[in-house]
Amino acid sequence: MTTPALLQPFLWRTALTNLRGLGILTPWLLQLLATDLLLSLLLPWSLLAPTSAYNISSWLAGLVWRGIQFIFTSVNGARITVSGDQLPQHESAVVVCNHVSWIDFYLIQHLAVRSFMLGRCRYFAKQQLRWVPFLGWGLWVMGMPLISRRWDKDQRELDRVFRGPKVYRWPMWLISYSEATRYTAQKYLETVQWCKAHGKPIPRYTLYPRTKGFVATIKALGSDSSVKAVYDLTVAYAHNGRFLEAPDMWQTISQPNLSEEWRFHVHAQRFDIEELAGRSDEELASWLEERWMAKSALLQELKKKLEDGQDWSQRSKSSNVEVLST
Ligand SMILES: *[C@@H]1O[C@H](CO)[C@@H](O)[C@H](O)[C@H]1NC(C)=O
Ligand SMILES: *[C@@H]1O[C@H](CO)[C@@H](O)[C@H](O)[C@H]1NC(C)=O
Repeated sequence: MTTPALLQPFLWRTALTNLRGLGILTPWLLQLLATDLLLSLLLPWSLLAPTSAYNISSWLAGLVWRGIQFIFTSVNGARITVSGDQLPQHESAVVVCNHVSWIDFYLIQHLAVRSFMLGRCRYFAKQQLRWVPFLGWGLWVMGMPLISRRWDKDQRELDRVFRGPKVYRWPMWLISYSEATRYTAQKYLETVQWCKAHGKPIPRYTLYPRTKGFVATIKALGSDSSVKAVYDLTVAYAHNGRFLEAPDMWQTISQPNLSEEWRFHVHAQRFDIEELAGRSDEELASWLEERWMAKSALLQELKKKLEDGQDWSQRSKSSNVEVLST
């Protein structure tokens, strides 16, 4: 069988794009492997001198993340627009974010770079990763929270992770996708049903946040830790006019001129953690739920702007979405 002549240029282009992706990815993968090896070697050191091991692992991780960020923005031309509060530099924070795609981390990292906190980012990640040779050990040494999301079982791991900001006063962005899973049509339907059954307001373009982890985090770090703030981030995308459609991971590595097809946006809001420190579990849970409803309103506003052909980084008169820079 031969390929129809009309299709050939497309296939050729795909093959070229894939080759390009491999050429870009290979050096970065080597860097990642070397870093994981070094991090694994740090494991015994981290037991003796936790703070210097944390500093070294942050520095190593920062280089790896800078590498992938460079591929996304500089090599492949992703232009990330930003709105909302300007985040302070070198500030430790609990970061909550909606979860649209695997590639959301680029948008969070974009803000972390500007705040000089890239190497200090620690994401809540799946427990199973711990058993991946080198990678998992590296994550463990870095102080990544590796959790099952069954909170009775996670207590020990959380205590270990919270010790960083609390006992050692480590600088950190402790990042959580509070919805626990990515926004998909199927998950959204389940969310709507769940909200109806539980008498909760129904969000649009997000799932409902899980509050247990957030409550535990604020309880542990709300007072007397290095953490000074809660950052509420909202990520959004559009692909040729279609809202919340993000490229996949491979596209972000292989495809040039990403911003010709996609929009990438992140909105940030900052809250003093002191405001939350004294609150009860229920109050903290409602606080997060309210943030999610505000997020939902913001996303609807962005969708409206997209339909009206407006730039997301422009401040609109009717809204409180303030833009400081892009
Ligand atoms: C770790 O880094 C912090 C901030 O960069 C610094 O203040 C501290 O002295 C370092 N500690 C060690 C043991 O390297
Ligand atoms: C990307 O865009 C730039 C400028 O718009 C153009 O010069 C370049 O050829 C494009 N690259 C590809 C691979 O399409």
